[in-house]
Amino acid sequence: MYEISEKEIIIAPSLLAADFMDLESQIRAVERAGAKWLHFDVMDGMFVPNISIGIPVLSSVNKKSDILLDVHLMINDPIRYVDAFREAGADIITVHLEACENVKETIKRIKESGAKAGIALKPETEAEVAEEFVRDVDMILVMTVEPGFGGQKFMRNMMPKVKKIRKYINKYNPDSYLQVDGGIGKDTIKEAALSGADAFVAGTSVFGATDIDRAFTELKYIVGKG
Ligand code: DX5
Ligand code: ZN
Repeated sequence: MYEISEKEIIIAPSLLAADFMDLESQIRAVERAGAKWLHFDVMDGMFVPNISIGIPVLSSVNKKSDILLDVHLMINDPIRYVDAFREAGADIITVHLEACENVKETIKRIKESGAKAGIALKPETEAEVAEEFVRDVDMILVMTVEPGFGGQKFMRNMMPKVKKIRKYINKYNPDSYLQVDGGIGKDTIKEAALSGADAFVAGTSVFGATDIDRAFTELKYIVGKG
């Protein structure tokens, strides 16, 4: 597994946009391009109006790849599944603040499982709601689309929230990542980076490209490194 050691800018291709008939070659393509993280979107049809992939797929990927598995749980009451996702290979487990009955308990459970812990905010959730948890987490994910589907338009109006979260991170926990997710591509990544993000989820713009390697490399180039 790739260890998060020194802080570097991360581009995490989102598997949701991959061709599921051809998962292995798609994952190999982003690995060859230099991706160190793979973003894995889990949806339950309740927290979001869509159903995606889950534990068995994660476990298969984990058995054949060393890429860091960045698991984004868009499910209600995610504490129920923390241990199962960790066992299946999750390196980072990110839960939505809006989906947890008890956020602190959920973060604690993730850490006890041995995974890194992330919290995510839907577009309507204010930055202030996250402030009290910043010290306790390894990553804060600001959604830049409504969660549930890939291929949506980047919400530029989330940038003030990204800037606020960047301030909290600098103040309380500079080692934490600030991730943005949704609509990230060559026309939007720079703006998110300038607002303070340092981990970028890219689905359609990477897996939807005819040349995956080139698309990934282009994003990396725009934000500096990979
Ligand atoms: C949306 C997911 C995203 C999605 C992003 O609910 O959390 O990770 O895959 O896809 P793009 O990059 O296509 O907006
Ligand atoms: Zn996601």
